Amino acid sequence: MRNIVLIGFMGTGKTTIATRLANQLGLQYVSTDGEIEKREKRTINEIFTKEGEDYFRGVESVVVRELSDKEGLVIDAGGGVVIREENLANLKSNGIVICLTADEDVIMGRTKKYKHRPLLNVEDPKLKIRTLIAKRAPLYARCDHCIDTGKLTVRQVVEKIVEIVASSK
Ligand code: S3P
Repeated sequence: MRNIVLIGFMGTGKTTIATRLANQLGLQYVSTDGEIEKREKRTINEIFTKEGEDYFRGVESVVVRELSDKEGLVIDAGGGVVIREENLANLKSNGIVICLTADEDVIMGRTKKYKHRPLLNVEDPKLKIRTLIAKRAPLYARCDHCIDTGKLTVRQVVEKIVEIVASSK
């Protein structure tokens, strides 16, 4: 079975939805960030601080390549995975890629209580969110399907994905 891959900006609900989806379908959940942290034996924050973003993106691409060679996974991809074109190509080669979206206020509300995202640990996170979304929007649009999670419950988003997956078989 092909993988189900969730991409999208930070705070669009990828982790919550991917976990629930994997449970419901009896599939294995895996996150690119989790695999990076296991491999590096340190947190994403530590990797960004000590090695910089380019290094992080390099490890992310290796992890994406490895996960794309596997079957039947629900992959929760880090928000910046679309930055390198090869990543999306690898994920699509063996999976259906679904992008979750939400507007900047929803994202701000969902992310402001956490400190584990180095790119949002800045003085003006809202501006950062706006700038990054503007830059990445055309890249996210290259997914197979898109779902706005802003006004939907977790259950509704999961249902939509189940329908998309069933109709793509
Ligand atoms: C990032 C998103 C994060 C994580 C890292 C960089 C990004 O993942 O990979 O902090 O560039 O958007 P989540 O989208 O799961 O928060």
